[in-house]
Parts: sequence; structure tokens; C-alpha cells
Amino acid sequence: MVRHTATSVVTIERFIIEQENLHPEATGQLSGILYDLALAAKMIANKVRSAGLADILGSAGTENVQGETQQKLDIIANEIIVKAMDHGGRLCAMASEESEEIIPIPDHFKQGKYVLLFDPLDGSSNIDVNVPVGTIFSVVQRVTSGGHCTMEDMLQPGHRQVAAGYVIYGSSTMLVYTTGQGAHGFTLDPSIGEFLLSHPDIRIPEHGRYLSVNDAYEQHWTEPVRALMRRYRGLDGKREAMNVRYVGSMVADFHRNLLGGGIFAYPPNAKNPGGKLRVLYECNPLSFICEQAGGAAFDGSERMLDLVPTALHQRTAIYVGSKCDVEIAREMLG
Ligand code: AHG
Ligand code: MN
Ligand code: MN
Repeated sequence: MVRHTATSVVTIERFIIEQENLHPEATGQLSGILYDLALAAKMIANKVRSAGLADILGSAGTENVQGETQQKLDIIANEIIVKAMDHGGRLCAMASEESEEIIPIPDHFKQGKYVLLFDPLDGSSNIDVNVPVGTIFSVVQRVTSGGHCTMEDMLQPGHRQVAAGYVIYGSSTMLVYTTGQGAHGFTLDPSIGEFLLSHPDIRIPEHGRYLSVNDAYEQHWTEPVRALMRRYRGLDGKREAMNVRYVGSMVADFHRNLLGGGIFAYPPNAKNPGGKLRVLYECNPLSFICEQAGGAAFDGSERMLDLVPTALHQRTAIYVGSKCDVEIAREMLG
């Protein structure tokens, strides 16, 4: 990694170029994808910031003062990403939590060698109560050749990701990404509209302080999961109790634990017997970032990034965060 002095201002653009220069073989295509995503993030941040005005200017399904029908913010965010990414010649397809099918690149644009998978707005039910939401993305290289991408290109295990990241629309907007050389965080300076390097080479503490889980599902957990949660809470006397923090936006919960240490868990429950969170749009990208920061991710039976997906919108259980805390899950559930 290129080292910067404490006083140097490093825009995301400069950082991406410097990272690319470390790889003489790089074509610049992946860098282009990352710039475009940073632009989409700024556009979504702008929409999220004014979401509270929706009731004044018109809410979803109603007409606003200009007589235009308002759309749900997840759909707006989805469209922003598709429009920012479809014409660059770097992607051969996209897939989004908000679209049933693969999103092809229109024939009049050049087809590229990468696939983008994303959750345009994570935690969107939190929008109405002014709680942080986010965007999550994952990039893989296509494995088929010629013509349009196929399902085979989409359904790749997480360890094949070449880049992944998330944006959190919180008290400030931050973008965190990895291309496999550490995880790096950028904070949007709204006065100049630039993401500036604020968290180079993030390292997650080995043991965590925070436990993030929705324990309203406790009655539906298996006995080993209940025992695991008792362990994290210090109730079996085998470790110090962790603090419970649960926002209900995976991005926000994950981000806090990445910086402060801890574990985010979404075990299977009666309502979601296979887990709730999506392998391709949520679990794989955040697991890649977590591993790059020195943490780990487990799906209840194996390393999250080794899970071979069989469906686009597949869900899974997940335990992601500080290495030692994920190790406990592996021992007690594996
Ligand atoms: P999304 O808004 O993209 O559908 O994701 C919501 C997810 C995730 O952000 C969060 O961690 C989880 O749902 C919360 O689920 P519970 O309400 O079941 O705890
Ligand atoms: Mn989500
Ligand atoms: Mn979503």
C-alpha cells in the first residue's frame, strides 16, 4: 500500500489510481467501476438526505408538489446504480436485490468482463425513522466467454470477488472498499463533493466489544445458537459479556463492529429457516471486507466466502466480525 502523511489529502480517485499503479498488468477497468460506484453513492446520499422531506413533498405512491409520482427510495437507488454503471463498457451484467432477474447490459453499450452485484439500499425500512442505511456492492470477473453473461457468471463463491464495498449514509457518508489489499474507508466531504481517505487499512480488533443480533427470534433458534448467544453475553461464565447493539441495518451494524470490534450474527429462525440475508448482495461483500480487515465470516457450517451459491437471491445464516468471536461460533456450531 502507498503510505500517505497525516497531512496529505487523498481523494478516492487518487487512492484508486495509486492502488492500480501497484499492478502494472491492470487495465484500469476495475478502477473505472469503483469511480462510477463512488459517483452513484454521492447521488444516493443526496436522495437519502432529503428522504425526510418526502412526506412534505410527496411520499411513495403519491404525487409530489410538482405532480410527479414519488418512488420508493430502494427503487430510486437501484435505478441510480444501474444508470451509473450500464454504459462504461466494463460490466457484462448486474444483479440487484431489487430485480428478480439478471440485469443485462443493453446491446448498444460495450460488454465488459466484470459482473456487479448489489443491494442498492440496505436497511431501507429504517429510512422512515432517520436511522442509517447503506449500499453494498460486490464485483467478480465473468467466467463464461462471448455474448451475454449467464447465471454461471453470477453464482460464484465469495472468494472469487475482485472488489467489494459498502456505503453508509450516516451522520456522515462513508465508503469502505477492498480490492484484496486491505480495507480502506473514505468520508464524503459535502463541501467539495469528494470522498477523502479517512480510514486507511482498517483493522478489526481480534476480540470484540459488540454483539449485534436480533434476539426477538430467540425462541426460534436452535439450542447450539442459544448457547452461543449465552456465551457472547457472558452468561455461561466462560467469557466477559459483550455489549448488545442492533440497528437493524446490516451495513450500520457491520460498520460499527468493523471499527469497534465484535460480531454481527443472523442465525436461521422459524421465519427464515435458511437465514435472511442474501449471499451475493450482503454476506459475500461484507465478509470479503471483514477478512481483509483481519476478521472472519462463517455461515454456520463453513467459511462464508467458500459457500457456492445456487440461486441469485439465495439467503444464508451469517456470523461475521472479529476473528476470535467468529472462531467461537465455529467451535460451537460447526
Ligand atoms: P434490506 O433493507 O436490504 O432488505 O435489508 C434488511 C436486512 C438488514 O439490513 C438487517 O440486518 C436485517 O434485514 C434486519 O432484519 P430483522 O428485522 O429480521 O432483524
Ligand atoms: Mn439489505
Ligand atoms: Mn435492500
